[in-house]
Amino acid sequence: MPATVVVGLQWGDEGKGKTTDLLAESVSHVVRYQGGDNAGHTIVIGDEVFKLHLVPSGVLYPHIVPVIGNGVVVNPQTLLDEMAMLAQRGIDTTRVRVSAAAHVTMPYHVALDRAMEARRGGGNIGTTNRGIGPTYADRAARTGIRMGDLLDPPAIRAALERILPEKNALMVGVHGAQPMELEPLLERAVAWGDALRAHITDTTGLVQAALAAGDHVLLEGAQGALLDLDHGTYPYVTSSNPVAGGACTGGGVGPLQIDQVIGVMKAYATRVGSGPFPTELGDPIGTYLLEKGREFGTTTGRRRRCGWFDAVPLRYAVAVNSVSSIMLNKLDILSGLPEVRLGVAYRLDGELVDRWPLSLAELERVEPVFETFPGWDEDLGGVRRLADLPAAARAFIDTLEARAGVPIAIVSVGPERTQTIVRTERPARSGASWGAVAT
Ligand code: IMP
Repeated sequence: MPATVVVGLQWGDEGKGKTTDLLAESVSHVVRYQGGDNAGHTIVIGDEVFKLHLVPSGVLYPHIVPVIGNGVVVNPQTLLDEMAMLAQRGIDTTRVRVSAAAHVTMPYHVALDRAMEARRGGGNIGTTNRGIGPTYADRAARTGIRMGDLLDPPAIRAALERILPEKNALMVGVHGAQPMELEPLLERAVAWGDALRAHITDTTGLVQAALAAGDHVLLEGAQGALLDLDHGTYPYVTSSNPVAGGACTGGGVGPLQIDQVIGVMKAYATRVGSGPFPTELGDPIGTYLLEKGREFGTTTGRRRRCGWFDAVPLRYAVAVNSVSSIMLNKLDILSGLPEVRLGVAYRLDGELVDRWPLSLAELERVEPVFETFPGWDEDLGGVRRLADLPAAARAFIDTLEARAGVPIAIVSVGPERTQTIVRTERPARSGASWGAVAT
């Protein structure tokens, strides 16, 4: 299996870090293909907790080349701080590779993100304030600075001389904020280039060479399908394409080089920031999920909005990502609830619909229709076979699987790497498999 893509099927925070971490053992390269330091991956190995924003989670394996692809927007300071943190904890970061074509999130992008959000007032998007939207906007407007430019001080000076007056006019004239000075910015950018010189390269060439050599490449998405710029709940979305197609444009692979797409979802739903969320719970059950599931943002520390799993956008997410199998995370969090619900349709203007509405206005009007399952009390943390799950939990999984239309191949029952039920083969570097199939 040459290339595997891992994508989120909800609004991000599905636990993709654990999926990537599980699969990473058997691959040679892990490639981030979109997003920036708005993302947060939490990986738990024994007593150790790693929180990563930019460096792909594969860095925790000595045999893996962690790659930040051209589709990622890179705040060099975050990257350097993260690599320093990893190095301090004994992780080798010399292998990290960053695309020369990836765009740089500059301090004015961060300042503009904050200023634009403040201006939107109550209608804000609830961004992570990391400058993601403004960086991608500059990329599309062809006024961005790329990681490769950081290695060429005269080029950065020329770029800043062109770009900064416009940014300052916006900062001061529209947002009433302070302007930024060119020389200190230039100094920082040159220092970033010096510090990252050994890491900046042609990552598309690297990934293509790995595939040509028969190595297995894992492409890891950040955020999720419902936050996708094109397929999500626009404008309450991020500014990139988390869907599997983003792995092609942002990771340097062609569509036919992708062999499998693993969709990742939680047994319930969460969303950070603003925007429609039909199955959201504003009651004690929502608080139960928040607290038991520790649903606080890795990047911003914000409380995530919690709700029941919504199977309406699931089919849509499976289709637009061409998901081949699913990892279901955090099933253990549902233990202890008197009943478990699953959103299966919407009531829209008196009509029953089971399609995911494209229109924001419609999505804001829908009322969810639920299927209800009996709850279960058993602690699932020690379960390693589907057959050992309570019958109600199995029924819930079976229904989810039927609605998704693709197999649920992996079920996670706790944060630790070993707290996992595996049903099918894992992609392997050299023919290794997941081991015994436990069903
Ligand atoms: P931005 O990506 O910072 O521009 O934020 C746009 C929207 O995406 C906001 O609702 C954020 O809360 C959300 N978002 C961005 N990154 C993540 C993530 O990693 N997990 C969950 N939500 C995210």
